[in-house]
Amino acid sequence: MAAGKGTRMKSRHPKVLHTLAGRPLLGHVLATTAALPPHRCWVITGHGADAVESAIAGSGAQAVRQMPQRGTGHAVQQVVPHLADADDGSTTLILNGDVPLIAADTARALASACGGTRLALLTIVLPDATGYGRIVRDGGAAGGAATASTAGAVLGIVEHKDASPAQRQIREVYTGMMAAPTALLRRWVMALTDDNAQREFYLTDIVAMAVADGVPVVASQAADETEVLGVNSPLQLADLERRFQRRQADALLEAGVRLADPARFDLRGTLTTGSDVEIDVGCVFEGAVALGDDVRIGAHCVIRDAVIGAGTVIHPFTHIEGARIGAGALVGPYARLRPGADLGDEVHIGNFVEVKNSSLAKGAKANHLAYLGDATVGERVNYGAGSITANYDGANKHRTVIGNDVHIGSNCVLIAPVTIGDGGTVGGGSTISKNTPAGQLTVARGKQVSIAGWTRPVKQGKPGKPANPGKGG
Ligand code: UD1
Ligand code: MG
Repeated sequence: MAAGKGTRMKSRHPKVLHTLAGRPLLGHVLATTAALPPHRCWVITGHGADAVESAIAGSGAQAVRQMPQRGTGHAVQQVVPHLADADDGSTTLILNGDVPLIAADTARALASACGGTRLALLTIVLPDATGYGRIVRDGGAAGGAATASTAGAVLGIVEHKDASPAQRQIREVYTGMMAAPTALLRRWVMALTDDNAQREFYLTDIVAMAVADGVPVVASQAADETEVLGVNSPLQLADLERRFQRRQADALLEAGVRLADPARFDLRGTLTTGSDVEIDVGCVFEGAVALGDDVRIGAHCVIRDAVIGAGTVIHPFTHIEGARIGAGALVGPYARLRPGADLGDEVHIGNFVEVKNSSLAKGAKANHLAYLGDATVGERVNYGAGSITANYDGANKHRTVIGNDVHIGSNCVLIAPVTIGDGGTVGGGSTISKNTPAGQLTVARGKQVSIAGWTRPVKQGKPGKPANPGKGG
């Protein structure tokens, strides 16, 4: 179910498209269902349907629109025409698009608890059950006493807004996930009414129908609270994000990665690591990142879609995206590697150096304040401070080729397309627009001259005022 408005998010975007660890809430749920036994999957869309439907394109799930949105029971009614014919003994599993961390094992267990014959509910006992539907049991809180008891037969679910003060004391809640015999589900949801506080069709009302029909209702408790927490507000989203991140951090720690602080670590994708990897505080990893043995990542780096070789050190505040880095390299602090940066072993990239769509061969260095775009840089090149490749002529990008063992002085402009021959040196401040020969010094800048007897101009006085005797400035 993914049609609800998500009013409490106070956002213009559909709730299920808000991201947790960089992936839409609904994307987490669909990744989980993809791991379940053969099934068909429908996503009920409504609020922001166009955006939600384009987000699920290619997932194998089929969208079914619910217009307008009149509650969770009304949502399931929209799928009824698609559900398998009555007597096939199949099970229908209902998940919430806003409960992202449900594990495949839990969903599988819920479906087998149903087994095509029982109504299986996933419940949990929460310290604060505010807002949730409460599980009313025989001999439970309906009689008055506050309870977290999960004994006694389930009689029904009562929504928070409809619950009596005594029922609000119940701490066992419905997680929003159930599995039902398909044929019975079709019948029950079509019989729902909106006779309640919110004038909605509550899916949860089918529980009392099952009881009335003598169909066994089994409520199985979720083992892990994080799995069943729903996202209804930015606060809950942030809380779940931290729980999820902590879980990922703990798994990395277990695998031997030394995180300086698991509470200050964010992984929005996948991170594979060799042995003896160290990650300092405040780093964000996105997409697919692979770190070789002995890699050290300094504080506050953002690294997306990158492969980093053994023993390489990334110093603090470095931003890396779509890059490959060899072994034994040093990058940062404050470096920026953009897509297509391909650094060989032992390359050094220093502070305020930007590299885009360029390869640097083994041992090349660009240590300060430089730009390399669309360049092929040879081994052991030293690329001076303030030097740039002028790779863009306003319409097209061109390549700069720098041979092995070249030294580029400081503040050079290499106007591409251009090739600097092997072993050549380019004098500081040069603007190079033609290829340079191997092994020679090339200087392309105004010649330095000194003019003897030159005097600075003096400021002219305004009429009536004496001339300022030259304070300067
Ligand atoms: C629901 C349950 C409540 C349970 C809670 C767990 C009902 C009536 N209540 O309440 O017992 O404790 O989940 O999180 O089912 N949706 C639609 N169409 C609609 C309304 C909702 O598709 O017309 C979808 C939402 O997008 C969401 C899900 O159903 O994914 C749950 O809706 P929400 O409004 O969050 O229900 P809760 O009030 O949380
Ligand atoms: Mg909800």
